[in-house]
Amino acid sequence: MLNQKVALITGSTSGIGLATAHVLAAQGISLVLHGLLPTHEGKKLANEFSAQYGINAMFDNADLMNVESIECLIRHAIKQMGSVDILINNAGIQHTESAENFPLEKWNAIIAINLSAAFHAVQYALPNMKSNGWGRIINVASVHGLVGSVNKSAYCAAKHGLVGLTKVLALECAEQGITVNAICPGWVDTPLINDQISAIAKKQDITFEAAKYQLVTAKQPLPEMMAPEQIGEFILFLCSDSARSITGSALPMDGAWTAQ
Ligand SMILES: NC(=O)c1ccc[n+]([C@@H]2O[C@H](COP(=O)([O-])OP(=O)(O)OC[C@H]3O[C@@H](n4cnc5c(N)ncnc54)[C@H](O)[C@@H]3O)[C@@H](O)[C@H]2O)c1
Repeated sequence: MLNQKVALITGSTSGIGLATAHVLAAQGISLVLHGLLPTHEGKKLANEFSAQYGINAMFDNADLMNVESIECLIRHAIKQMGSVDILINNAGIQHTESAENFPLEKWNAIIAINLSAAFHAVQYALPNMKSNGWGRIINVASVHGLVGSVNKSAYCAAKHGLVGLTKVLALECAEQGITVNAICPGWVDTPLINDQISAIAKKQDITFEAAKYQLVTAKQPLPEMMAPEQIGEFILFLCSDSARSITGSALPMDGAWTAQ
């Protein structure tokens, strides 16, 4: 029964993570909310989830750049909530620049947050899932885990890496009742892509909305951005018993972007 499970969603103070938290909480799944919010704001968010959905919810603002913080995040969550049954590695950042000019600190941060943090979180969460004989690990990758785009060397390297990690983990966990999958979304309407939209609007002297449409249709045949809740509903399905045979997959949800 999913309503007896605990889900930890990294980066759940915004965008896809926050929307996913609402979708899971509506099914009675208890939550470890996480993201870069001050502690008092994060605790307020957790209290709001508890009040709205009648679930247990806690908050942690561990910086995913730091391995020790990730260990504390998982250990603290298991201690306080009793278990982490569902791990959603969702937090991510973006920076666009040609490979030649890509700042080293941005490269290191993208690899650390978008890829290495998922590896560390899994290492600390797996023993608990194995002892329960059940687990769901869902890595929020991207179409950029499947194809490349100019100016996204670090992001594409991290997301392709996350897809590779997903496949290996699925093989290692196949007999343990634990599934591991990557979701590969196209454009999703969240703050992560606002800089890219603003850059187009400025360069072409057009409105933010017109720039958004241009960004979406440049690569994605289905000419609309996805709502973050759609990713949340997909994640909920992957947590269900019906999805128990789906493992080791990199699943596009991309308006036919990668069908081309
Ligand atoms: N928006 C899109 O179009 C899109 C498309 C495909 C994949 N994705 C992926 O979806 C995931 C979520 O993205 P989003 O669009 O919801 O972004 P967002 O900017 O709305 O949210 C990012 C979250 O990550 C957290 N975070 C960032 N750096 C952190 C750090 N150092 N330590 C801890 N937490 C940190 C933030 O606090 C926030 O909660 C990312 O992995 C992103 O790559 C997004």
